[in-house]
Amino acid sequence: MQTRNLAVLGAQWGDEGKGKIVDLLCDDFDIVARFQGGHNAGHTVKFGAEHYSLHLIPSGILHPGKTCVLGNGMVIDPVALLAEVAKLRDQGVVIEDNLRISSAAHCILPIHAALDQARETAAGEEQIGTTRRGIGPAYESKMSRHGVQMADLLDEKTLRKKVESLYEEKNALLTRLYRADPVDPEETIRRYTELGETIGPWITDTVALLREAMERGGRIMFEGAQGALLDVDHGTYPFVTSSSCCAGGIATGLGVPPSSITEVLGVVKAYTTRVGSGPFPTELSDRTGEYLRSRGNEFGTTTGRPRRTGWLDLDIVRKSVYLSGMTALAVTKLDVLDELERIEVAIGRDPSGELSWKTVDGWQTPTVSLKRFDDLPEQARDYIRLIEDTCGCPVSIVSTGPRREETILR
Ligand code: GDP
Ligand code: IMO
Ligand code: MG
Repeated sequence: MQTRNLAVLGAQWGDEGKGKIVDLLCDDFDIVARFQGGHNAGHTVKFGAEHYSLHLIPSGILHPGKTCVLGNGMVIDPVALLAEVAKLRDQGVVIEDNLRISSAAHCILPIHAALDQARETAAGEEQIGTTRRGIGPAYESKMSRHGVQMADLLDEKTLRKKVESLYEEKNALLTRLYRADPVDPEETIRRYTELGETIGPWITDTVALLREAMERGGRIMFEGAQGALLDVDHGTYPFVTSSSCCAGGIATGLGVPPSSITEVLGVVKAYTTRVGSGPFPTELSDRTGEYLRSRGNEFGTTTGRPRRTGWLDLDIVRKSVYLSGMTALAVTKLDVLDELERIEVAIGRDPSGELSWKTVDGWQTPTVSLKRFDDLPEQARDYIRLIEDTCGCPVSIVSTGPRREETILR
């Protein structure tokens, strides 16, 4: 049976406001599933006076009755997972059997974080600016077939064998190449066996779970982390993350057929930001860039780092629309542009990579909290139409503030 499922994906370099949009649209779905990445993600959800930061757990967890899946394509740090669970529970969120973790997802171990840190430090000026959480090294272990999967946490003998062999190789790298301290395998085996006992009840075959849910007519929302330009294949390599953030990653990262991805909503910030190093053709290093950072509160949810800021680059958004087959866009943070007299937009690139620009008039009227498209000033409506025309994709949502209720649905 064909159910109607929706993917919500970042169309830029992450932090587009995916968390807010997933939360907003959750009601229509039974399951919210993450398919890639780990706690490098930071998704903010706000409504009324509530404020939640999510890293590993899909934003659907805030909605009672929704099942949240951490798919096989993810890399999961059990310590970070339990810290997130504890924090959410402190905020009154119920996390019981509404959380399901793939037995095949890979585990981020202390040695992965140690390697990420050692590499970034050794790279000096050349560093990627990773979140230093061990994401890349954990995916490397997976691909080199030395990884520890979540199911391995439930069996001490298997865990011991895998950790000992992995640590032997990685400690050699850490100590001899990077001159860093080794990580003790015994400590990892002891601690992670314990963590496995706590996490165990959530670990399951999520491929079967999703299949059965779809066969019953259940609807799934696929929650993306990061964004198309951070995709390991299609992003600004090597300044990317180590997973497939575009729609292609959903099928492998959850074990669902590509045809089950029936709608794809791309989340686009009304300007551009990026955290970490790498190319950013529309970056602003002037007062306007500083203005976007302070007005947009552009500081990382995960690491607190100031985000780099710049004009909207519609050429990259158009590429993201194509790569993921986006069927609609959600434009976020329109309100951040409210005070600007003039707004520049990159609308294309010539074959040599030179950008073509369009300058449009700002609206210089508050749009914060507006809920109807027709209430937007004319210049703001034109800005949205420029995005639609340039990207060849309709804008179905416009976000005018961080809160759930500050949204225009078209
Ligand atoms: P994600 O990683 O894509 O989920 O995005 P983040 O949560 O890391 O970053 C987006 C930030 O912008 C968060 O602090 C949101 O609360 C905030 N935000 C989302 N939509 C809007 C909006 O329309 N206007 C404003 N001013 N802030 C927004
Ligand atoms: P959300 O889901 C923005 C960036 C890092 C770095 C690069 C590689 O909140 O949009 P990694 O630790 O993944 O190996 O770092 O990717 N990065 C993000 N930037 N938002 C994110 O997630 C990111 N996750 C990773 O800053 O440049
Ligand atoms: Mg984020």
